[in-house]
Amino acid sequence: MEHTPAGGTVADLMCGTGSVSEALKMKGFRVIAADVLTFAVLHAQVRLLLNRAPTFQGLDSMPYHCVLEQLNLLPVRNEFFTREFSPAGPTHQGVAPRKYFTEANASKIDAIRLQIKQWSDCGLITSAEKGLLLHDLVLAANKVANIAGTYGHFRSTWSSTALRPIEMVPTIFISGHRTDHSVLQGPAEHLAQSLKADLCYLDPPYMKRQYAANYHILETLARLDEPAANGVSGLRPWRDQHSAFCTKTNIRAAFGRIFSTMQCNRFLISYSEDGLLSLGQLKSLFEEYGEVSYKCFSYPRFRSNDSLLSGTVTEYLFQVVKS
Ligand SMILES: C[S@@+](CC[C@H](N)C(=O)[O-])C[C@H]1O[C@@H](n2cnc3c(N)ncnc32)[C@H](O)[C@@H]1O
Repeated sequence: MEHTPAGGTVADLMCGTGSVSEALKMKGFRVIAADVLTFAVLHAQVRLLLNRAPTFQGLDSMPYHCVLEQLNLLPVRNEFFTREFSPAGPTHQGVAPRKYFTEANASKIDAIRLQIKQWSDCGLITSAEKGLLLHDLVLAANKVANIAGTYGHFRSTWSSTALRPIEMVPTIFISGHRTDHSVLQGPAEHLAQSLKADLCYLDPPYMKRQYAANYHILETLARLDEPAANGVSGLRPWRDQHSAFCTKTNIRAAFGRIFSTMQCNRFLISYSEDGLLSLGQLKSLFEEYGEVSYKCFSYPRFRSNDSLLSGTVTEYLFQVVKS
């Protein structure tokens, strides 16, 4: 960061939760955030573009915390989430009801989604207000989801957190920071050609596991739609949001396209020793585009008892300075 001018532009093109983008905003940088997934884009929009709660004028200027209270108190509805993601759903084509949420939480999620949709369809909330409420819903639902990490599978027994009632909790805003940031949706390797920044941070997926498939329920919450829910996991169609960084055949070209088309000379890239490309492979790939240096950080590894992997995992932080 020491090479980036104060107040300069930093791109975070795989922004995920938006927490790195938010930290960059707090440091006074102008941020360009992007991701392929809608819920990640919503998180970044809230964290970067809002410094205070919106006014909800279309709801008689109801204070933000009262809007959330109203949503928390809605009577439950048995609709899409209850049908597809709770045990109250039907057995369909031999697929047993899914246990991502208790019936009580899924039917509350249905009620909240339908209310946000109705307010939006009737023009009673702005797109920023809708985005904030959906961001809050994604966070609230994620806290009570009956999963072990991702939405690739639900647990067969209920976790203690899944049994808690879902609650919409107000986002805390920190005022006084610039809001002239941009948030974009799409593959970084396609967006890069129209972007200019002093520094670009890339935190790609490093394994074959596609985020779009593993976080499909959060995507459905953010999109406020009712897609086909396929198979045991109830996957939405996700291939249009697949990541080139999850396949060995496409990852090199995707990195290359970002480095060569973006108007930016300095890149920081996070990667893991467990990733598709080894340290040596990453180094030689990056050296095609510029001068490469890197640091290693070791962290305790979360592992099951029968894991053959070592007790620590090494993460790499590469710097590529374009030549
Ligand atoms: C490791 S996570 C990033 C975590 C993030 N740094 C944070 O603070 O939460 C990887 C992210 O990259 C996104 N992603 C995957 N392929 C992408 C691509 N080609 N372009 C943009 N985003 C992509 C995923 O949707 C996911 O949100």
